[in-house]
Amino acid sequence: DWDASGIIEDQVAKIRAKVGDAQVICGLSGGVDSAVAAALVHKAIGEQLTCVFVDHGLLRKGEVEQVKHDFVAATGIKLIAVDAADDFLEALKGAKEPEHKRKIIGEKFIRTFEKAQAQVIEEAGAQGKEVKFLVQGTLYPDVVESGGGDGAANIKSHHNVGGLPKDITFELIEPLRTLFKDEVRAIGTELGLPDEIVWRQPFPGPGLGIRIIGEITKERLDLLREADAIAREELSKAGLDRDIWQCPVVLLADVHSVGVQGDERTYGSPIILRPVSSEDAMTADWSRVPYDVLAAISTRITNECPGINRVALDCTSKPPATIEWE
Ligand code: XMP
Repeated sequence: DWDASGIIEDQVAKIRAKVGDAQVICGLSGGVDSAVAAALVHKAIGEQLTCVFVDHGLLRKGEVEQVKHDFVAATGIKLIAVDAADDFLEALKGAKEPEHKRKIIGEKFIRTFEKAQAQVIEEAGAQGKEVKFLVQGTLYPDVVESGGGDGAANIKSHHNVGGLPKDITFELIEPLRTLFKDEVRAIGTELGLPDEIVWRQPFPGPGLGIRIIGEITKERLDLLREADAIAREELSKAGLDRDIWQCPVVLLADVHSVGVQGDERTYGSPIILRPVSSEDAMTADWSRVPYDVLAAISTRITNECPGINRVALDCTSKPPATIEWE
C-alpha cells in the first residue's frame, strides 16, 4: 500500500539528518514538482529553507499570484520573488526562432537566479550561516531519463526551472527522486498545497514564450494569457481537468486572416487549441473535447480577445506532431 504520510515522515527524517543546521535554497518554477519538493523540505527544516521564484513574465494568468501568495500562505515558506518580466522581454526583442527563444530564456533565467542566490548566500553569511544545499524537484522518470546518476555530480539543466547554474557547488536534495507524478500530487495534497498548484498541468519552462509563434511582445503575451485563461476556465467548468493531460493554447501571431465582427471586416490572428491526453508526454493523442465546450471556448475567445478572429483545434497526435508548437 502506498502511503503519502509515511513517505513524508520518512523524507522529513532523511532531510533533517542530511541538512543539519545548514541553509538550503530552492528554485520555484510555479510547477507541481518544485512546489511539492519545497513544501516537503520546509516541513523538515522550516526557516533554514529559502525559496527563489524568478517571474519571467511568461507564466499564465494568475500563476504568479498563486506562487507569491497562495503557496506562501499555505506553507509559510520564506520566498524571494524576482520580477524580471521586463528584463526577459528586453532580451527577447526580435527573437522569433524557437530554439533561439529557448536559449535566451534559459540564459536569462540562470543569470537572474544566480543573482538572487548570491543574495541568499550573502544574507546567510552575514548571520554566520552557510548555504550548503539546493533542492530540486527531480522525479523518478527524470532520473531514468538522465541515466540514473546520483546527485551532485549530475546537475542537468533541469528543464522545469529553465536550467540552473552549471558551476554550482551545492549538494542536491531531491526528495521526489523515487516518485511518479501522481504520487507527487498526493504528497502535495497531504502537505496542504492548494489544488491549483497540485493539479497544475505540465507547463514548459519557457512558458508562453514558446506558445507565441513569432516575436514575443507584452501585448501578445497579454492577449495569449487571456485566451489561455478562457480555455482553462471552460475546460474546468466542463469537468475535463483531470482527463486532459495539458492543453497548450497557441497564438499564431504572424498569421493573419480575414474575419467579420459586428459590421467590421477584421484582419486578426488565430488561436490554436491543443488539448492532448497522454501518460508521460512522450506520445499523446488529441483529446476529443465535446463540441459544446469547444464552441464555448471559441465564442468567448473571439468576443473577449481583441485581435483574435479565429479559433482552431489541433487534431494531430504525437507523433507525428509534438505537443507544443515550438
Ligand atoms: P513536446 O512539445 O516535445 O513536449 O511534445 C513534451 C512535453 O514537454 C513539455 N515541454 C517543455 N518543458 N521546457 C520544459 O520545461 C521546454 O522547453 C519544453 N518544451 C516542451 C511540453 O509542455 C510537454 O509536456
